[in-house]
Amino acid sequence: MEEMRYGLVGVGHMGREHLTNLAHLRSEGAVVSCISDPHPPSLNLAVDLSHSLGLAPLPQVFSGHRELLDSGLCDVVVVSSPNMTHFEILMDIIQHQKPHHILVEKPLCTTVQDCQKVMEAAKRRPELLVQVGLECCYMPPVAKLIEIVKSGTLGQVQMISLREHRYPFPVKVNNWNRFNINTGGTLLEKCCHHFDLMRLFAGANPVRVMASGAIDVNHKDEVYNGKVPDIIDNAFVIVEFDNGSRGMLDLCMFAEGVRNNKEISVVGELGKGEAFVTESIVRVGMRKTGRRGVQTIKASDRRIKYDSFTFISPACSTSYCREQ
Ligand SMILES: NC(=O)c1ccc[n+]([C@@H]2O[C@H](COP(=O)([O-])OP(=O)(O)OC[C@H]3O[C@@H](n4cnc5c(N)ncnc54)[C@H](O)[C@@H]3O)[C@@H](O)[C@H]2O)c1
Repeated sequence: MEEMRYGLVGVGHMGREHLTNLAHLRSEGAVVSCISDPHPPSLNLAVDLSHSLGLAPLPQVFSGHRELLDSGLCDVVVVSSPNMTHFEILMDIIQHQKPHHILVEKPLCTTVQDCQKVMEAAKRRPELLVQVGLECCYMPPVAKLIEIVKSGTLGQVQMISLREHRYPFPVKVNNWNRFNINTGGTLLEKCCHHFDLMRLFAGANPVRVMASGAIDVNHKDEVYNGKVPDIIDNAFVIVEFDNGSRGMLDLCMFAEGVRNNKEISVVGELGKGEAFVTESIVRVGMRKTGRRGVQTIKASDRRIKYDSFTFISPACSTSYCREQ
């Protein structure tokens, strides 16, 4: 089997999650050959994890992504460093003499201008595959609902509603996620997943956005280098799409007491579909058959080799609740 060598840039929570996932793909030829991170405790945790996963040889360790690229040790780079570092790292990878395919954690960058520059640079290297890690669409209940919507069962999609009610942002290395300048803001850091899903369900692009959000409960008593976090903890957002459909996001990050941290509803002219992540349930009902015709489907995917429980909040006891 052909080997695919992966290098991980940034081995905090998500980098180590990728390390674990890739270790479960060893039988498919995935090899984690190198890792880089400027924060020695993250590197140490990643080396310990590699030991416990039985990786042999252990990945080679670098403090900077440029050394990792120059080593020639990998074919694919997974970028899982903080959002504000993505632009520089991506440009370095794309412009490197040696071609490297890229999986970059969401969001691509923190500004539209930087995203556009990265996309332009990537177009000039057509031999590279560049993918953004917006993985919510692969969660079994969401994937099932996408399949139902795309099959046309619900008819033309008119209304999409996504509710995420969950626990606050966890602490990250050097508290980078407490400030908009680093993350791009809560509606980007947390909600790019939801806007991506809205586009998939609508099958269209957004033309107008209305939003209202606030800092009401979380992080108000935290101070880092004299600064109080400026990230919002709740919001309502309405998005209008170019085919006339509309999406609504309802985000609350001080709602630990929920059964499903994501509830998605898609209503078309013929029927309605719902996905409940964490229960992994999908419900579908048609206008013609009414409430008695509503079907409940348990969603699963046998291809999933490892179901991550690693980084979930103590308040969240089932899978698909990654900390973000
Ligand atoms: N897809 C998802 O569901 C999901 C979930 C959580 C986080 N994320 C994304 O993953 C990325 C990392 O988040 P995290 O939760 O792992 O944060 P983290 O703070 O746990 O880890 C980030 C790591 O990157 C390192 N780092 C900082 N600057 C670096 C650089 N220039 N080069 C290499 N490494 C560098 C830090 O030292 C740290 O170890 C972010 O972009 C975040 O938005 C995605």
